[in-house]
Amino acid sequence: MNVVVLVSGRGSNLRAIFEAIDAGTCSAKIVGVVSDRKTAAALDLAAERDVPTRVVPLRKIDGRERWNEQLAEEVGMLGPDLVVLAGFMRVLGAPMLRRFPGRIINIHPALLPSFAGHDGPGDALEAGVRITGCTVHVVDAGVDTGPIIAQTAVPVLGDDTADTLHARIQVQEHRLLPRVIHQIAIGAIELDPLRVNTPVSDASRSLTVPDL
Ligand code: GAR
Repeated sequence: MNVVVLVSGRGSNLRAIFEAIDAGTCSAKIVGVVSDRKTAAALDLAAERDVPTRVVPLRKIDGRERWNEQLAEEVGMLGPDLVVLAGFMRVLGAPMLRRFPGRIINIHPALLPSFAGHDGPGDALEAGVRITGCTVHVVDAGVDTGPIIAQTAVPVLGDDTADTLHARIQVQEHRLLPRVIHQIAIGAIELDPLRVNTPVSDASRSLTVPDL
């Protein structure tokens, strides 16, 4: 299964996928890494492994629709079976969703539907919850709203800061995301029946997910 990974930052999740592939526990091939930021450290990780990289910056002059079209074009040229958002901090629009219907997944550092958005760990801490975690879900047109595939819980500790909490959540992200990718690759999780317009609850029910 050919995977294109979209990144905006450090790339620790990208590294975890590479390492799982190296270890033989994730039967996928990363055929490209695409970023909206040319300074994303994740791009260096890909380049070190001779994986093709592309940068598609969101320019005000082009607007979001055009950016989505450019992104869909670049990602499409890499020929993915699955698109993985691993720390990609932009909301995707219709051109991307139409091009890869039900074939885009995202990792988020909270137990969705709680604490969607750009600061899942900080928002969980602020709300005073005792348990948070990470979620892998199918991407739809909303912000972190698509059908949930898998989650791992992480306790919030009394002396946690947003950074220490995020670091512990990331330990779990690095286990969960490669596992989900592997399960999709071997057909144990089927994304094909999912449609982006299906209500989330129906789409989630139609997902068969093995214990991860
Ligand atoms: C990850 O924790 C991921 O869950 C989060 O960004 C971080 C990227 O880290 N994504 C979101 O918050 C998306 N809403 P990484 O670059 O080290 O993989």
